[in-house]
Amino acid sequence: MTVPPVLLKGDDLFEDDPTLGPYENTRDLSKYLLMHYGRIDDVFERPHHPLATSHGYPQRLSDLLELCALRSGTRVRRALDVGCSVGGVAHALGGWVEERVTGIDVSPRSIDVARTLHRHGCGTFSVVQQGPYTREVHVRVPVPGEGRARVDFEVGDACDLGLLGETTRGVDAAVLSNVLDRVADPERCLRQFTDSDAFLRPGGLLMVACPWSWYPAYSDPERWLGSSSDHTPSEEAVKQLLGTAFDLLAESDEGAVLRQNPREYDYFEAHVTVWRKR
Ligand SMILES: C[S@@+](CC[C@H](N)C(=O)[O-])C[C@H]1O[C@@H](n2cnc3c(N)ncnc32)[C@H](O)[C@@H]1O
Repeated sequence: MTVPPVLLKGDDLFEDDPTLGPYENTRDLSKYLLMHYGRIDDVFERPHHPLATSHGYPQRLSDLLELCALRSGTRVRRALDVGCSVGGVAHALGGWVEERVTGIDVSPRSIDVARTLHRHGCGTFSVVQQGPYTREVHVRVPVPGEGRARVDFEVGDACDLGLLGETTRGVDAAVLSNVLDRVADPERCLRQFTDSDAFLRPGGLLMVACPWSWYPAYSDPERWLGSSSDHTPSEEAVKQLLGTAFDLLAESDEGAVLRQNPREYDYFEAHVTVWRKR
């Protein structure tokens, strides 16, 4: 029997390495691994937890996009998961996309973890319990093969998809999950899809999921979607921008949790829209 790889070392959970970028320290990666791949009883230690319905966020996004593809008759051979972190949405998409799913993230450490997990099909990491105590979690991803798309991961900038070459050209679907409020220039990121057919082909699907949780640490308030002067909510601003080139297929709110410890969770609700390019 092969020993599952250690994706993150438990001791590093309490190290705060200032040389690492946002979302790169071990504690953040551990929280995203748990959110993306943990079973419900890895996340919540008692049954019938009040936040239990927020479990399984990556699969819910993938299911919604698949439903939109089926209903609109859109064939999805290649898809992108932009700002993929440790790759949960990319792996979920791999269950129904026909040929290839590429996860892209600016964080080399996140991509490294996603690749290791993908290569081995499983892995272990630690989550915080109480004080200095941690608990080991074992996660799995589906084995590549029959009926599944090839899944791979690349380091890249969501606002400069052209730098990734052919991988990002002419795809049939792209997911931007919880990334627009984390990039320096969210409009520039979206305009790659509205102003050009280079990345997403006409007729292709774009899914935007975001809690619109803006912070100046990530983007200048002048660039936030939704203007502070006329109080346009971000939900409306994104519709105005994408409505110039896309038709809206679906809109929903999807809850998700990042677990801090067994008694503390960060709950957020992503505003989710799915669009078809004209
Ligand atoms: C809030 S996390 C969301 C992760 C995942 N998409 C999800 O929904 O769980 C934001 C992710 O975006 C990545 N990110 C931030 N700026 C980026 C950029 N310019 N290009 C690509 N990824 C970026 C971060 O490294 C992080 O993994």
